Amino acid sequence: DRASGVGHGVAEFVVVANRLPVDIVQDEQGVSWNTSPGGLVTALEPILRARRGAWVGWAGAADVEVDPMSGDDMTLHPVRLSEREVIDYYEGLSNAGLWPLYHDVIVKPEYRREWWDAYAAVNRRFAETASRAAAEGATVWVQDYQLQLVPRMLRTMRPDLKIGFFLHIPFPPVELFLQMPWRTEIIEGILGADLVGFHLPGGAQNFLYLVRRLTGLPTSRGNVGTRSRFGAVAVGARTVRVGAFPISVDSSTLEDRARSADVRAAAERLRSELGNPETIMLGVDRLDYTKGIDVRLHAVGELYAQGRLDPTREVLVQLATPSRERVGSYRAMRDDIEREVGRINGDFGRVGSPAVHYLHHSVSIDELVAFYVAADVMLVTPLRDGMNLVAKEYVACQADDGGALVLSEFTGAAAELRQAYQCNPHDLEDVKNAIDAAVHRPAALGRRRMRAMRRQVLQYDVALWARSFLDALSADNDGPEA
Ligand code: ADP
Ligand code: F6P
Repeated sequence: DRASGVGHGVAEFVVVANRLPVDIVQDEQGVSWNTSPGGLVTALEPILRARRGAWVGWAGAADVEVDPMSGDDMTLHPVRLSEREVIDYYEGLSNAGLWPLYHDVIVKPEYRREWWDAYAAVNRRFAETASRAAAEGATVWVQDYQLQLVPRMLRTMRPDLKIGFFLHIPFPPVELFLQMPWRTEIIEGILGADLVGFHLPGGAQNFLYLVRRLTGLPTSRGNVGTRSRFGAVAVGARTVRVGAFPISVDSSTLEDRARSADVRAAAERLRSELGNPETIMLGVDRLDYTKGIDVRLHAVGELYAQGRLDPTREVLVQLATPSRERVGSYRAMRDDIEREVGRINGDFGRVGSPAVHYLHHSVSIDELVAFYVAADVMLVTPLRDGMNLVAKEYVACQADDGGALVLSEFTGAAAELRQAYQCNPHDLEDVKNAIDAAVHRPAALGRRRMRAMRRQVLQYDVALWARSFLDALSADNDGPEA
């Protein structure tokens, strides 16, 4: 705490996230940096640059000691993790415990005492680093499920700070959350914030219920709105507010890129490299079992088998970014998916023209936008996803109102993108029908649906997300509504 000499810094605005926006790469050539994977970095990087803030996070490799680095528009404060901590805090509690628990237990979560101890110790290190970076009275915005204890730790160290917390993944149903052996510690950790944000009102309401049940603190009872009608918890003399803020993308920048001549030419090149198919279907995901990559492969495979899609005319491109590769469930899933790709190509591909094109690596933003522009049908079929930025990126890139989006009902984005071809990813026939309808849509209907979704994504962009959260955080709390 303050008495133990953690000290103050100079940043007026600090983001604290498990990962820095860049990952360190160390090889024979020396040290270089790559953009980090995932939607959180995509969303927050432009906001932090605009505010010239500080970013506290891990550099993505074990045991690397890096000093704070100042660039033109942000300062990075690396947090060191030992190899043991990467195993216990990141791969263990965060990604083999909390991640599956918060995603509807698609795989069985594991809870181990030593993982929890590492989680608490690493959260304390993040809180200390944030405290050292933040100026007196600064705003500190803590991100995501890896750092749920940080708000409370930071408040104890630095009562002068304004602290926000945002969860980028779903907040689970009450019955599932109650499995968590350290459930009360997590709720109390988050309650160190002044404002707690979720993507959807349902997550905020689950949280308020759990606060009452696990801590006995009084809370508001009314329904939480989207960017409105915040809930409230009375924590002693403080009021913690709770709201829903659906995250989004930098829509106009994506649209501008999609319109640019070189991206259009790249999209044309892609189409011709794919053999000028009539329809390009596209999937873009981190290789994660929540994303339902297997679901769309099964659906497309059956549509080929039934003759409802023709593998010579309708091809699938699946881009899959490597993710959490040492966690057992991720390794098993990769094997399953690659086997399925091989099976479909074995059954339906021809020499030189596979039906499914599968890349196990990430692509640059310009290449990605070219894929979005080239794709006639985007397949987003997660079994559960907090938001899914890929769906919104695709919509933002359809500058000519072309394209169609197949979207799982179990994504946060489904609440906003009502005109997508929505489907239940647990119902294979429903997924197949949605893909079939999107591929064979009448052109005018397709455009109408895309135009409506584009209006939504262009109006509610990532800048509006950040502004609505940070405005609510800086507004005075005027006492509990509980
Ligand atoms: P998550 O945060 O769970 O990974 P999101 O869909 O919200 O899921 O965000 C994923 C982000 O990562 C998007 O901005 C998307 O463009 C990017 N991304 C995913 N796969 C790739 C890929 N193969 N190459 C480049 N970027 C990718
Ligand atoms: O929001 C989902 C999220 O887990 C982010 O917290 C994270 O940065 C991203 O996905 C990618 O995952 P990871 O950091 O484990 O590679």
